Amino acid sequence: MASGQSVHQMSNVGMSTNILWHDCPIQKQDRQKLLQQKGCVIWLTGLSGSGKSSLACALSQSLHSRGKLSYVLDGDNIRHGLNRDLSFKAEDRSENIRRIGEVAKLFADAGVICITSLISPYRKDRDACRALLPKGDFVEVFIDVPLHVCEARDPKGLYKLARAGKIKGFTGIDDPYEPPCSCEIVLQQKGSDCKSPNDLAEIVISYLQKSGYLQA
Ligand code: ADX
Repeated sequence: MASGQSVHQMSNVGMSTNILWHDCPIQKQDRQKLLQQKGCVIWLTGLSGSGKSSLACALSQSLHSRGKLSYVLDGDNIRHGLNRDLSFKAEDRSENIRRIGEVAKLFADAGVICITSLISPYRKDRDACRALLPKGDFVEVFIDVPLHVCEARDPKGLYKLARAGKIKGFTGIDDPYEPPCSCEIVLQQKGSDCKSPNDLAEIVISYLQKSGYLQA
């Protein structure tokens, strides 16, 4: 090989053989400069009915009004398309989280503040998504609402069906939820001290501000 010519490093990744990573001259930093923000993943986790989707929307709205680009990846929504082939058994939930983690990583690389809203009940699956991103770029937010509160809200009537045995393996009823051991933000919603989605969004925004994500 002539000197100066680069050696192309072929790889085997999973079931993909002889693949080659191709770099683009425009990089994450260039996109961040254009957007005047830093790409990252805000990972919202909690029980069904804890308010993840409402917080995701409030957060996206508040960022938008500040001129910051965000995008919400919602578990229910993504199960309408990309993940429509997945059920709620443990290995399918893991695959749901893995795929959304990979998609979120791409959004963050695009310079976007990517907000994911999934129950993501298993700690090891969330930790695997964290490991995909540079340190600091994965912000895990636990929406800590007791089961009895979520069940009393029951916005979709699913807890009632689960208690009646009409839905099997429902998170919190007959399938586990493993709360984070250490995460960046815990939003406790207890008793009469329940904050609005907008108030919760401001807590997350101040974290992003303080950590430098709202500037390039
Ligand atoms: S996850 O466990 O794989 O992270 P995800 O967030 O995508 O779940 O989807 C959860 C939503 O699916 C719930 O809000 C609820 O509307 C619906 N759902 C249907 N069956 C179940 C179940 N067995 N457990 C939890 N949620 C369920």
